[in-house]
Amino acid sequence: MTAADATTVELFQQDWKLYRKMVDNNFLFHREAYAALHEVLINDAARPFRFLDIACGDASASVGALRGTDIAHYHGIDFSGAALELAGKALTELNCTVKFEQRDFLEALAGVVEQVDVAWIGLSLHHLQGMEKLAFMRTIRNVLAPGGLFLIYENTSPDGEDRENWLRRWDLQKPFWTAYSEDEWNAMAAHVHAADFPETDATWHTLGREAGFASVREVFAAPTDLFRLYGFSK
Ligand SMILES: C[S@@+](CC[C@H](N)C(=O)[O-])C[C@H]1O[C@@H](n2cnc3c(N)ncnc32)[C@H](O)[C@@H]1O
Repeated sequence: MTAADATTVELFQQDWKLYRKMVDNNFLFHREAYAALHEVLINDAARPFRFLDIACGDASASVGALRGTDIAHYHGIDFSGAALELAGKALTELNCTVKFEQRDFLEALAGVVEQVDVAWIGLSLHHLQGMEKLAFMRTIRNVLAPGGLFLIYENTSPDGEDRENWLRRWDLQKPFWTAYSEDEWNAMAAHVHAADFPETDATWHTLGREAGFASVREVFAAPTDLFRLYGFSK
């Protein structure tokens, strides 16, 4: 089983710099989202905690969120070798044990997975569609220790908005992405139009409850309201 369509594989395995430019320019509000993650880790996570970073990419934003927390173990999963090479360097500054898996995250999580206290997925769960998201969230719940937390920063629609209108709003970002050339914008837009499946706020809450989580809460919404951060407690 795999969660990746062709545009996802191409974009993240062959052209990591294009994604990096998006992060460096804060086009998707990584700074604010990962600052919010840091606050949750400080205030609500077990002490010490084991952290699972699903689709970790180069882990640079995660390391920023984990700095100064009581992390004991970091486990990153991503299928991009280029990204994992950078992640390995970024993780050296944290005082914890580290494990990486270069694999499709659905395959990795279908196997034997060590229990963790916090599971995090940043901007990658939206590649799955409806029922696949639910099955995935049930799998994550089983990987969490009692009292564990699942946190996501993902494509979200206000209630009542469909995918077509979410994509229309996504396209409205173009004038603000001044660091991107026309070709770079087109490559990213093609990927998002092919592979991104947002959920409404109400659906995220329903998915959380149906996956068996005791509570769901919204932690942060991007100023564009294209992305929101949710916390699901076991
Ligand atoms: C949008 S980036 C997100 C990176 C990071 N989590 C962040 O918040 O910036 C998506 C990452 O997910 C990885 N990815 C996408 N689908 C994947 C899959 N099915 N299995 C493993 N990694 C995947 C890509 O290689 C890429 O590093």
